[in-house]
Amino acid sequence: MSLPRVLSGIQPTSDSFHVGNHLGALKNWVEMQNTHECVYFIADMHAITVEQDPAQLRERTLSSYAQLLALGIDPKKSILIVQSQVPEHAQLMWIMSSITGIGEANRMTQFKDKAAKGGASSASVGLLTYPILQAADILLYQANAVPVGEDQRQHLELTRDLAIRFNGRFGNTFVVPEPFIVKATAKIQDLQDPSAKMSKSSPSGCINLLDPLKTTEKKIKSAVTDSDTEIRFDPANKAGVSNLLTILSAYSGIPINDLVTSFEGRMYGDLKKETAAAVLEFIEPYQGRVNELLGDKAELESLMHDGATRAREIAAKTVADVYSKIGFVS
Ligand code: TRP
Repeated sequence: MSLPRVLSGIQPTSDSFHVGNHLGALKNWVEMQNTHECVYFIADMHAITVEQDPAQLRERTLSSYAQLLALGIDPKKSILIVQSQVPEHAQLMWIMSSITGIGEANRMTQFKDKAAKGGASSASVGLLTYPILQAADILLYQANAVPVGEDQRQHLELTRDLAIRFNGRFGNTFVVPEPFIVKATAKIQDLQDPSAKMSKSSPSGCINLLDPLKTTEKKIKSAVTDSDTEIRFDPANKAGVSNLLTILSAYSGIPINDLVTSFEGRMYGDLKKETAAAVLEFIEPYQGRVNELLGDKAELESLMHDGATRAREIAAKTVADVYSKIGFVS
């Protein structure tokens, strides 16, 4: 019996993944390898919907790939690819864009937000069709489930709509994927503003996994807490302390309740110290693995090509089926 297939992607738009990416999404990607057949990818084609420096994009793509391997994505178990190395993504995207309404694309709130940032008229067409490329990513592999954050829910709804529409018009072709909004994984907040989600746009509140150890230690030790002294888990009233407990629990493997008991009568400084120690204990060997992988570019590129070859075996079948159904000659 074959396992259900899962697919997810991440954009190569930073030099390093951060603790929010790791605990909020990527840790779950690693775990899902035990229960699903997984396809994961670096969404470099999505990244270029806003301006990217070519040399930086290439570096970040290689580094993101190495970071996913170092986190535990196992190329023997899963298919790990760079999106642009599998041309079927672009091929299917074109077909899907032809069955998407302009109004439908215009309604995507992430597009509206991103377009508003740069001034609506300067946004690229690619930014508008971004969710259609995302739908193609998913449908290409007949994925059953797509683990993503809440911010991607609307894109998944569009993917389902397009799959159902295509199947209805041309006959059963695509698996209609289930949204798999990951609630169980940790929500990680900004260290300096614990009311906001951790994000690279706020560097002092963001723990990058590839930052120097000293920097990370400093950031954790200067995390914002509150004027109270009690260490308890209460995200609504004690966002900073609760965030540190969440991070410490994730990296130490100790349940939050046990941590709270062990910190009874102790000070915030102790909590920060133990959190920093637990994070560093994870980060240090992780950085070693990333550096080792990046030190052998030939091997890294060979892993990418192997991944692309395996992905194309699945993707080419879908595209051939779609081409035939819509009336392209063979
Ligand atoms: N849009 C996703 C994000 O920014 C990345 C992505 C691209 C993706 N294609 C995907 C996620 C397909 C899941 C499935 O997080």
